[in-house]
This record gives sequence, structure tokens and C-alpha cells, in this order.
Amino acid sequence: MAILFDSTSRLFTLETNHSMYQMKADRYGVLLHTWFGMKGSVFDYSYLISYADRGFSGNPYEAEDERTYSLDVLPQEYPTYGSGDYRSSALKVRYPDGTTACELRYAGHKTLEGKYALPGLPAIYATEDTKADTLVITLEDTRHCFYVHLYYGVLEELDMITRSVRIENHSDAEIYLENVQSTCIDYLHGEFDLHTFYGRHVKERNYQRMTLRHGIQSVGSTRGTSSHQYNPFLILSGEDTTEENGSCYGFSFLYSGDFLGTAEYDQYNQTRILLGIHPDNFCYCVKPGESFYAPEVAMAYSHNGLGELSRIYHKAYRNHLCRGKWTATRRPVLLNSWEGIYFDFNGEKLVKMAKDAAELGVELFVMDDGWFGKRELDVSGLGDWIVNEKKLGCTLGELSDQIHDLGMQFGIWFEPEGINEDSDLYRAHPDWALQVPGKSPCRSRQQLLLDFSREDVRDYIFSHICQVLDSAKIEYLKWDLNRSLSDLYSALLPADRQGEVAHRFVLGLYDMLEKLTQRYPDMLIEGCSGGGGRFDAGMLYYTPQIWCSDDTDAIERLSIQYGTSFGYPVSTMGSHVSKCPNEQTGRNTPINTRATVAMSGTFGYELDVNEMSEEDKSIVRSQIDEFKKYYDLIQYGDYYRLTNPDTAESYHGWEFAAADGSEALLCIVALQIHPNGPGCWMKVKGLKPDSIYTVDGKEYPGDVLMNGGLLLPAATEEYESFRIHIVEKMGI
Ligand code: GLA
Repeated sequence: MAILFDSTSRLFTLETNHSMYQMKADRYGVLLHTWFGMKGSVFDYSYLISYADRGFSGNPYEAEDERTYSLDVLPQEYPTYGSGDYRSSALKVRYPDGTTACELRYAGHKTLEGKYALPGLPAIYATEDTKADTLVITLEDTRHCFYVHLYYGVLEELDMITRSVRIENHSDAEIYLENVQSTCIDYLHGEFDLHTFYGRHVKERNYQRMTLRHGIQSVGSTRGTSSHQYNPFLILSGEDTTEENGSCYGFSFLYSGDFLGTAEYDQYNQTRILLGIHPDNFCYCVKPGESFYAPEVAMAYSHNGLGELSRIYHKAYRNHLCRGKWTATRRPVLLNSWEGIYFDFNGEKLVKMAKDAAELGVELFVMDDGWFGKRELDVSGLGDWIVNEKKLGCTLGELSDQIHDLGMQFGIWFEPEGINEDSDLYRAHPDWALQVPGKSPCRSRQQLLLDFSREDVRDYIFSHICQVLDSAKIEYLKWDLNRSLSDLYSALLPADRQGEVAHRFVLGLYDMLEKLTQRYPDMLIEGCSGGGGRFDAGMLYYTPQIWCSDDTDAIERLSIQYGTSFGYPVSTMGSHVSKCPNEQTGRNTPINTRATVAMSGTFGYELDVNEMSEEDKSIVRSQIDEFKKYYDLIQYGDYYRLTNPDTAESYHGWEFAAADGSEALLCIVALQIHPNGPGCWMKVKGLKPDSIYTVDGKEYPGDVLMNGGLLLPAATEEYESFRIHIVEKMGI
């Protein structure tokens, strides 16, 4: 078992293949955090803690006159509000008497074989070939009202440790959770950089790295979704850490709603990291005998730089977060109707579009927004999931049959959480929309949202979606959400439970997605929220791919997909070739480059094939063949970021290398062309140093390609790209 317990020193040591995590219940029963980092000797790391008389830092009562013992200074596993620790805390509870001061003490623990699961929430899972163990440490509050069960999942081969928390009320009165963070790590020493991913609609997950200074630096969302603005994935690294060297820690939240990621650099140069549900829109009532589960955080450590840290997440999320048939089955190359024809279609036009695409080798046709209710524009119809047969000129079944007759699969768009005021559903049930009595609701894209915290509302929508899905042969579903939450009020909850609405909304979303995946296990579901507004590890548990951004410009996508790659594998990134000039930027990019970028994702097209030149059509045919040829290498290979597109001089590159080093695909985009410019080289990664490789008919030893690099071809066209296949020569 990867969980060691020393009963004399009450020391817990968790080990993965390359990392180690340690806690200790000290003499007062305070659970100290003593180590997270490189794996080494199993030793009591609490020797690193310095005890000194700390002015203005309080001492717990049982420490009596021991003025050197203060929670304000000690590294703790789960610090609480009102304990004399004045740093950001992981837990704030309102007791029945209205007070919030809280102290926790060790009460026991148990270890379990296998990885824990969480009711109604996404969680990393183990498979037969992956060992996993669970540790549950129980702390009790010193006023004997509730237990805090800290859950640890230890996935040795994956080099991943997960955390979650269950708060169990064992008193005879209600308690109110005002803040429950899912993880907290205290670092005694070290100067750190914090890496975050900020953005906006049509420009998500820009990479930002900053040195921590004294004070608090945080990112988060109070939008009800994980958001375009900040991603629930943080990295903490040493100041010198690069792609290939140095220590770094990843913190990824498996949750799709409000979140807060906090880094606090304190008065003693210690660093605290917290990640969990944002406390702003959160107050959860736990009744006697009931429990609250905090969503999971997946943590990883690497001492070989950011690239290796990302690859830990890629592997874990591909195989131990995404579920079902599509984790290991090749996904079809699709054509989505949206950017090609928007709302302007009928059945005939769709079939024509599909026919043109089928001739090029496209395997799945997706009918996007506009097929239901009164939906001619984005101002009406949401909520009325009834096929507009008048617009289509046929039933959905007939349309789907025609698509299938072309040898293609058929997919369809939904926005289940959305509702327009101009819809039959809203006219019948205005109270089903999220809105506060007596206040006009905040509109966004001229729509509101349904109260997904309500089971009756979800059941209604689910049954209507099922009616549509059952009426035709449908292999793919795009689950969209086109606004942030606001006006949090649920008609079914009493006043003191309105603070639960945002979280219950997310639980409702997960509940419905779970039902959907169970009822349609073979259906490929793609998540989406105005592009990448809900691109998070929580959604990946239900939807193995997510539309990365509504910005389909290949050059913009370089940064978006680069930022996304830090925490998520390319197999999850919805990416399409769209037309030029690009709809969002007006930029022209060669079709080969658009494919280079889209192939580094789930790969599809989003344009009207009818408008393409014969030359481009024949290029598309060969692109699809090429994608199929490289599919395993791209989707399951090791991903390497070779440059940062925002700072790269002239060429930006990334690479996929087979895990056994037998081949690699180098993807290069020329960002700038300089006449009479300097040469450009790219050092190849992940090859076998002693093997010989063939590149474009020439042979090179692996170590030469990795140390000296490959001389890149000179670009002759703006934004030209190159896909360079590097193959090990067999038989040597
Ligand atoms: C969102 C999605 C797009 C498209 C439209 C349809 O913006 O991100 O891909 O589906 O909605 O309204």
C-alpha cells in the first residue's frame, strides 16, 4: 500500500512513483502538513518546522504557556477560520449559535484499497492496471458538532494525489458551511511562481506566470461556471523551473462552477495554496446526521519541469477521468454546421452540406443551433426542444437517415440549461428560470437560465431531450451553455438555503449528464460554453471533449491550445478548420496550417464545403487521411510544448512522441517570415538517444536530434506550417 502510518509519531506518508506527501497529527492533535514534493526517505519532515516566540500570533489554549506554538505559523493540512491562524483558511462554519470560530483535532483515520468515489461529483478513478489507495483522516471540531473527513486518493503509477473533504454534522442542530476548500498545502520555505490561465470569450486560457509577493494572489469565478475568465487549474513552481527542469506542483479542480484558487505568501515567507468552491455565492446548510462533500482536487508534482507535470495530467485525464467508449475509441472526424451556415438552413441544405463533406472523408455531420422551436436567431426558442419540422422540411429521423445514407454519423446541438423568455416553456413556467422575485433578471445573449438545482425542471428537460434523441439515430451531442449564472434564487428552497443554489445548479448539471451518459453510453458528448467557458476537469468526467473556443482563427488558437495544454490533453480539445478570412479575426491562414492546429485537438471542420475550391477540397481529403494515420500518436502520445507562441521569435512548435520513442510528429507554424533571416532549429523530445531516425529520407541519431535539433525548412508563405514525421529506423 502506498499509504504508510507510523502510530508512534502519528505520521502519514503517501507515496507515488516519484512524489511523496506527508502529514502528522502532532501532540495537540493538530494535523500538520509536513511535506509534498520529491519522493525520498520516509522520514519525519516536521523537523523542518522552526518554533520561536512569535509576537502577535496566538497560541491554542492547550499549549498553555508554550508561546512558540502558534497555528498562525504552523504548516497545516486543513486550517480553519477563527483558530488563531489569520491566513486564508480552508473552512468556515457557522455554528447553531451564530459563531464561526473553529478548531479541528485529529480523531482517527482509515485506509481503503482502491480509489474513493464521490456521490454526485466527478472523481479520478483507478482501472485494473492502476493501483490506487484511499486514506481518510477524520478531524473533529473541538466543540463536538461535526467531523471533517479528509479524503486522499493515492494513484502511484499516475503520480497523482487527489483530495476531497466530507463534512459530517453529528450534532442535533443545523450548521452552515460558509467556506469549504477542497485542498490546502502549506510550504514552509521556497520562493514560488504562480502560473494561471486567464481569458475572455473568444480568447480563453492565456498563460500567465508571476512571482509570488507578500500578500494574497487569487484567481476564481463567481459566474456559476468555471468560466472563460480563469481556469480552475493552477501551477506553483520554483522561480527557475522551465519546461524541462525544476520542481512544480499542479492543482486541478474537478468542478464546473464557482471556484477560488488562492496563493498566500505570508509574514514568515511561507506559502499557502488553497483551491475549492468560491465562498462568495456559497452557504450550505448541513442538517444533523447529513454530510456535505467538497469536489475533488487532483494534485501532481514533478521535479522535471512543466512539460512532465502536464503529461501527468494528460495521462490521468485521458484514461482515469474521461469515461466510456470514447476514451479508447477513435473519434470521428466531424463537420459542424455553425460557422458555415449559422441559423440559415433547412433539411435539404444540411444534407447537401453533409454530402459534400462525406465526399471528402468527413465521418460525422453535426447540426448545430437552430433546429428546434422558434429558433431563427439566438433570441428565442431555448427550452422548446421540439424539432422544427417545418424548417427542416422533414422529421429528424428522416434527416438522420439521409445523413446515414451518405455513410456518415449524425450529431445534434442542445443548450439544456438555457431558456428564452420568448419560448413556450417560459410562458408556461416563468418560475423555472433563475430569477429573483421582485427584481428584473440580468439577460445575457438575450436569454436566461433554467433552475437546474430543481429536479422537476431537470426531469422535464431530460425527458424532452430523450424524446428528440430517441426519434432518430444520433451518435453525437453538443452540450452548450451560452451565458454565466446570475439572479441566484430557487423557488423550492427556503430563505436560509438560497446560498446553495449555485452549487446545487452544478450538482443538477452533473446529475443530468450522468443520466444521459448512462442512457446513451455510446453517444459522443462534446461540452461547450460559448466556446471554452466551461473547459474544466469536472466536465471531462461526462464529456470527453470540450469545444475549446469560439475563436477558430488558427493563429489565435495557438495560444488558446497552448494554455489549455498545461492542464488538459489534446484529446479533450475541440478544434476545427474554419473558413478564411476567419470569421472572428478576418485573418487569412493557409488551409494546411488550419489543419495543423485543428489536428492537435479532436479535429473537424466548421465551414461550408460547397464554398471551397477544388484544390482545397483535395487538400482536405489528404488531411483527413493524414489525421487518421497519426491519430494514435496525437491522441495517446506524449505531448511536448517546444515554444511559447506568445514569445516565440519566428517559429512556434509542439510535438507528439510515442511513449516508446519509436516515432514523433513535430508541428511547426511560422509566425513571422524574415527575408535573409537566421536559421531555425527545433530540439526534438522523447526519442531514444541510441536509435537512428528517418526524417524526410535523411537519417539522424536520436541523441543528435534531441541535442542539436532539427534544421527547419524555411517558410515561403505567411503562417506556413510543417508537420514533420520522425520515425525510428527498424532493424538496428
Ligand atoms: C456557442 C457555441 C458555438 C455555437 C453557438 C450556437 O457560441 O460555442 O459553437 O454552437 O453557441 O448558438
